[in-house]
Amino acid sequence: MGRSSKDKRDIYYRLAKEEGWRARSAFKLLQLDDEFDLFKGVNRAVDLCAAPGSWSQVLSRKLRGQEEKGEEVKIVAVDLQAMAPLPGVTQIQGDITKVSTAQEIIRHFEGKPADLVVCDGAPDVTGLHDVDEYIQAQLLLAALNITTHVLKGGGTFVAKIFRGKDVTLLYSQLKIFFSGVTCAKPRSSRNSSIEAFVVCQNYSPPEGYVPNMSNPLLDHSYNVDFNQLEGPNRVIVPFLACGDLSAFDSDKNYPLQLDADKQYQYTPPTQPPICPPYQQACHLRKNNLLSREDASSICPSQSQDEPGPT
Ligand SMILES: C[S@@+](CC[C@H](N)C(=O)[O-])C[C@H]1O[C@@H](n2cnc3c(N)ncnc32)[C@H](O)[C@@H]1O
Repeated sequence: MGRSSKDKRDIYYRLAKEEGWRARSAFKLLQLDDEFDLFKGVNRAVDLCAAPGSWSQVLSRKLRGQEEKGEEVKIVAVDLQAMAPLPGVTQIQGDITKVSTAQEIIRHFEGKPADLVVCDGAPDVTGLHDVDEYIQAQLLLAALNITTHVLKGGGTFVAKIFRGKDVTLLYSQLKIFFSGVTCAKPRSSRNSSIEAFVVCQNYSPPEGYVPNMSNPLLDHSYNVDFNQLEGPNRVIVPFLACGDLSAFDSDKNYPLQLDADKQYQYTPPTQPPICPPYQQACHLRKNNLLSREDASSICPSQSQDEPGPT
């Protein structure tokens, strides 16, 4: 496959490189912002599950736009993986399920709560849909848990969600903490994917709620079929498509020469990920090292054919 074939197949992948974003996901947050005005009045923002960093780039560019404001703005990015530095973004290489990570975020904000928490977290997909949906739901709940430690009253939480069969239960749980919950699908998120984003506005936890990391909300009654509930017992959240019809369609192929006056030129990836797990796996397999006990500590150097925006 030629270098340009992915540019042709995936217009947002190509635009991400041309505009200097580390991943095509940047457009998802930008399109969500177009619809919900997420960044208005935000000085402290948290990007959970941030690597390779395109959402942090969006936060950095949008919140620190003007130099004078740059000083007041604090952005914290958290991921299990290492991430190349970004201007104005403090990085924590850590796990969002740990209370110590919440404490570290609060330390960076000097005790003040965040105005906005975003989470594009995704586990490695297995291809077994039920398992993937369940793990994604658990990650979303972990993000909600850590958010209850760091978000200010009235603040906003945005997170990736898989619209699987038990999504109604997740909506109910989010509605406990936020008065406004909307499910949104940006144009840059493929129609063929069950991915969407919950935009949760006006954080207002139940009175007396004490943030608590050992709160596996979903586990209590995951087997109940919440989709069978009716009337006031059933939570139905609005579903909104973000981005107007003139935006590029993420499921369509586009010609390489988009503009008649501008010749197509291949753009290399903006910032390849730092030592991602798949790179290590490829290296181990290629060198027949998969069975070696000390193999997990091997991090091969970045190779030239590294994929670009994800
Ligand atoms: C789809 S990527 C995020 C892309 C990112 N929003 C961007 O725009 O560049 C999902 C990330 O979730 C991270 N992740 C998964 N589980 C996590 C956890 N428990 N704590 C922290 N990060 C986690 C993965 O390491 C991965 O980097």
